[in-house]
Amino acid sequence: MSQAMQKLVKQHIECDDQLNRVEAALQKGDMASAGRNFRLFNEQLEDHFRLEEERLFPAFEQATGMSNGPTVVMRNEHAEIRALRDEAYAAIEASQPEQALAAIDTLNVLIQQHNVKEENVLYPMCGGSIPHLAAVLGFGGGCGGACSCAAAAKEAAA
Ligand SMILES: [Fe+2]
Ligand SMILES: [Fe+2]
Repeated sequence: MSQAMQKLVKQHIECDDQLNRVEAALQKGDMASAGRNFRLFNEQLEDHFRLEEERLFPAFEQATGMSNGPTVVMRNEHAEIRALRDEAYAAIEASQPEQALAAIDTLNVLIQQHNVKEENVLYPMCGGSIPHLAAVLGFGGGCGGACSCAAAAKEAAA
């Protein structure tokens, strides 16, 4: 697996860890900590989703010509995850730990199913089809100067 893909997988793990902190706070009935940790989770999730939606998916669609394939499914799943995230956050804001934990249970399942598809199917397809993946994702480093990564990064940022 390339370094760029490893970074994406690491973001999945970081989001999982952060959501676990929310659950732990809810189980202790610490609503302030749950809210704080949930907002951090939300920032990490949105950063990751935006990286996929604004950089990875368009690059995949452009490289493969598949604009009506797996990326459509992934975007739809992001929408489902966001809807459930809103539900969980509303329950936290309303100081309803039981409802929040129930929503987070389902949220966890959706996220795991989504991540497995990305890690086992979409990311390997991206790795095989997108030139200069690290640069496209803004991770820098590129291929060590032997190729046109810098130009690809500029193009992706434009
Ligand atoms: Fe995703
Ligand atoms: Fe992802």
